[in-house]
Amino acid sequence: MRDFSDLQSMNERSLAQQAMVRKATFDPGEIKGLRPFSIWEISTFMFGVPADTLRKKLADDPSLPQGVVEEDGRQRWFSLDEINELRRLLRFRGKSLLPKRPKGRAMRIAVSNFKGGVGKTVVAQHLANAAALDGYRVLCVDFDPQATLTHSMGLVEVKEWNTVWGIMCRDLCREADRIMASYDDPDDCPYPSADELPQDVQSIGSVRVQDFIQETCWPTIDLIPSCANAAFVEFASAQYRALHKAWSFFGCVSRYLDELPDDQYDLIIFDCPPAIGYQSLNAAFAADILYIPSGPGYWEYDSTTSYLGQLGDAMQDISEGFGPLAADAGLTLPKTYADIRVLMTRFETQNPLHQAMMDAFRNVFGADVCQNPIEMTRAVEQSGRFQMSVYEQDYRQMTRETWKRARGSFDRAYDEFKSTILRAWEAREEETQR
Ligand SMILES: Nc1ncnc2c1ncn2[C@@H]1O[C@H](COP(=O)(O)OP(=O)(O)OP(=O)(O)O)[C@@H](O)[C@H]1O
Ligand SMILES: [Mg+2]
Repeated sequence: MRDFSDLQSMNERSLAQQAMVRKATFDPGEIKGLRPFSIWEISTFMFGVPADTLRKKLADDPSLPQGVVEEDGRQRWFSLDEINELRRLLRFRGKSLLPKRPKGRAMRIAVSNFKGGVGKTVVAQHLANAAALDGYRVLCVDFDPQATLTHSMGLVEVKEWNTVWGIMCRDLCREADRIMASYDDPDDCPYPSADELPQDVQSIGSVRVQDFIQETCWPTIDLIPSCANAAFVEFASAQYRALHKAWSFFGCVSRYLDELPDDQYDLIIFDCPPAIGYQSLNAAFAADILYIPSGPGYWEYDSTTSYLGQLGDAMQDISEGFGPLAADAGLTLPKTYADIRVLMTRFETQNPLHQAMMDAFRNVFGADVCQNPIEMTRAVEQSGRFQMSVYEQDYRQMTRETWKRARGSFDRAYDEFKSTILRAWEAREEETQR
């Protein structure tokens, strides 16, 4: 018979060999970088002006960022920083190139579904990339210990304390102290203070807000990463709740994000795990908008249906069971969303079964289904170790038509996403002005 000690000793053997295995199978020199963008791409896909008009503006004013000219001297290539500089400095027909940014804090979007493999991470990655190319500053939060988004953003060395787990421990310490301080006499407080919590939890209490945020190869996309060890948060959080019964465990990430300066980011995009647990509840609770990807198969329909039911029930339980506790912690219940959108992914336009499933989704969910599905594209499927988005792939490595087709589907989905976000954002701005 074998028990937990066998699992632990297997873990120890594996850890002892980890460095060697890694050296043999993983090239640490493989660092993800962001490619530059050509005048053709900038004028066609970002600024929406003729390439010659942009070339003329650049030629007329040598003080503008000039990019780097390709060796054959034909095409100019610009970094995203240079493109954003041009966005600030240029106007076409009096129009600014900066994207619309209503006032207030960043909009938070959770890309979430129970079902594994429906394309949540691909959607989160592409929306983040498309938004950054549109001039927005984006923070991504990886709530999934599979850490696919973290790896696709090029981060490989992540400690569990730098993940959502760390944010939850920090929140527990701060909440424990806040609750203790709310009693005139600390002896009357039936809950522990932070220094009565386990040592490893306490050690996170003083981590600074910004220390959870890491840079990526995109100058305007930051990331709160995840890692395999962060899976343990699901087990540990049940213990933390038993230790501190007044802890509003579902509001940790929401409270954490509230601490960021309003104008640090425009969009905060969450990639959620294929499960309902402490991490996904925190994501659902912190989000302003739910984006629910679903594939075009029956089992995906089935599991999206369960997801909606279970998330709805979990949010109802929280709303009904935690009212006074949440109000005391500054959280508003019931949790409301500015919008909930269902997005069909991995869609093949020529496949009649996919079309039938799209019709079924539209019949059932009506206007909540996004008009523009994400199509199945080989460019994404075969994009290598770091899972490059279509935006990161250089169009010269395939035919321009293939690349344009691949990104077309993501561009249309992004345009629709943007209008959803702006609608919600403007409504919030109006509300706060009232
Ligand atoms: N539009 C697409 N075209 C081609 N391949 C895709 C597309 N979307 C996703 N894939 C592929 O499908 C697989 C699963 O995608 P992804 O990792 O985004 O799913 P997920 O829902 O995040 O999965 P998990 O639940 O495990 O987190 C990946 O190999 C990805 O490359
Ligand atoms: Mg994923």
